Amino acid sequence: MRLGVVVSGKGSNLRNLVERGFNVVAVATNRPTCGGAAFARKRGIPLGELSQRGFTSAEERDAAMRDFFHAHGVELVVDAGYDRIHSEPFVEAFSGRIVNVHPSLLPDFAGGMDAVEQALQTGVKMTGATVHVVTSDLDAGPILVQEAVPVLEADTVESLRGRIHDAEHRILPQAIRLMEARLAKSSAVG
Ligand code: GRF
Repeated sequence: MRLGVVVSGKGSNLRNLVERGFNVVAVATNRPTCGGAAFARKRGIPLGELSQRGFTSAEERDAAMRDFFHAHGVELVVDAGYDRIHSEPFVEAFSGRIVNVHPSLLPDFAGGMDAVEQALQTGVKMTGATVHVVTSDLDAGPILVQEAVPVLEADTVESLRGRIHDAEHRILPQAIRLMEARLAKSSAVG
């Protein structure tokens, strides 16, 4: 399946997918200086550099992202550390074909970029990672795969984030394979 990956940060999930042999045909970013964008350049993966300042609205930026992914024949969009919310027309353009990885056991700590900090602050003993289908309802689309990660007494944000990342690197590939099987089944039926 042809994957289009959206990144804003370090890009460890992107790197993990590429190293595991997933067919990443395009990478889009709103932060051209991020680690994920640097990785795409290094590997020669087509990179859509879509800084918000180049556009007058989020809708306009997302229309450019949609066109970029369509031009590369993307079949599944993977939000791997994207720090913005897709606008409605983008979600509709790839309806049921966008997945997101989130660093908590959703529905806990939904909706922000500080789920790891929140887990430590609230004192939960268990948190984790979730991959879900993206709908227009932020972080609330159908859950595909989750993995629990215990919060240890001595954890810092960095140490907990590191173990959550390890979990993400296991469950994002599983979720993509699940989507691949589902989409193949629905196209065979339809
Ligand atoms: C991950 O923790 C993901 O859950 C969150 O952003 C982070 C991205 O990490 N949405 P990386 O850029 O893939 O290393």
